[in-house]
Amino acid sequence: ADLTSLNTLKLPAKAAWLVKTSGQEALLEALDFAASLQLPVFPLGGGSNLILAKDLQAVVVHQLPEPLNWSASAGLDVSLRVPAGYNWHQLVLETTSRGLYGLENLALIPGQAGAAPVQNIGAYGAELSDCLDAVEGYWLQPDEKPRSDLLPAKDLQLGYRASRFKGDWKGRFIITALHLRLKKQAEPRLGYADLAERVAGKRELRKEVEAACVPLPRIIAETVAEIRQEKLPDPKQLPNVGSFFKNPVISAEQADALLNAWPAMPTYPAGDQVKVAAAWLIDQCGFKGQRLGAFGVHDRQALVLVHHGGGTADGLLQLAEQIQQAVKERFGIQLEAEPEWLAE
Ligand code: EPU
Repeated sequence: ADLTSLNTLKLPAKAAWLVKTSGQEALLEALDFAASLQLPVFPLGGGSNLILAKDLQAVVVHQLPEPLNWSASAGLDVSLRVPAGYNWHQLVLETTSRGLYGLENLALIPGQAGAAPVQNIGAYGAELSDCLDAVEGYWLQPDEKPRSDLLPAKDLQLGYRASRFKGDWKGRFIITALHLRLKKQAEPRLGYADLAERVAGKRELRKEVEAACVPLPRIIAETVAEIRQEKLPDPKQLPNVGSFFKNPVISAEQADALLNAWPAMPTYPAGDQVKVAAAWLIDQCGFKGQRLGAFGVHDRQALVLVHHGGGTADGLLQLAEQIQQAVKERFGIQLEAEPEWLAE
């Protein structure tokens, strides 16, 4: 099966098998099918955080969307079960329209809900881990039937773009649903200056022109979507996987030394360490808007690599290595790829 249209970088790759499932029964059949062929199972959601640098000798399983389950609300919290195949942004729109807080800062992140815990998606000062209760799914066990389980969020080692699903549980658990806890009342998270300003402006505007009140979380979600649309290329128009590198986390000493030389370098606190804006490092090295063959660095966000068409993973690797080398030479920082990179 051809996976080109199932990864947002539009890299040409193939899978031994591709199975689209709807519901638990169909999923279990797919897992059974893979076991009978002695092939690994590879769950593929929106393919928006994936670099397919090889063909997959696997049964690729793509879960189709199914309806949400709202539980009776307990006090000010609302519990929600989200099937893995549910579109993430659709979920953000639906929950915020009901006036619920939790997902508003995570608007317009591409992909399916089931992929969200794998890298603990985050943006504008919020992370999935802020409102994730548990993850439902199946353990894949060699020579045994898959075993269903509900994993509490505290056991997932959720961190900055990190979880056990990328670590020691990689390839061992198929996520089928998320259990979220959303709030009817909460402090909006407006720590990002441009987000706060725009939201304030919109609230004023809405007060004046609209009698019907749009819930604040919905206003925040719309504003985040607007900011993202201005900076980030739409994968449908210009194939990409969002941030191509993680923002590196360095020691306070190293950060001080760098800030001495480059006082404008954007940094963020990360425990007793310091997170540095990779986009700025790449930008300083002059890569923004540059092109190497079929791939390039986006002209509005240097952290996003884009595919202009007709390229293969080799070309992408070349560009990524040039960037890593330049940043290493200039700042002494090693950039790490952010999406899952599937290479030989
Ligand atoms: N900057 C530059 N040049 C650029 C772009 C940005 O100098 O070309 C500077 C900006 O001025 C800013 C800093 O770099 O001071 C950070 O930029 P931005 O706020 O755009 O965010 P980011 O750190 O580049 C991270 C996430 C994004 C997320 C945004 C907003 C990572 C790897 N990326 O990007 O997530 O949307 O913050 O919260 O943490 C993704 O993971 O795919 C993604 C898009």
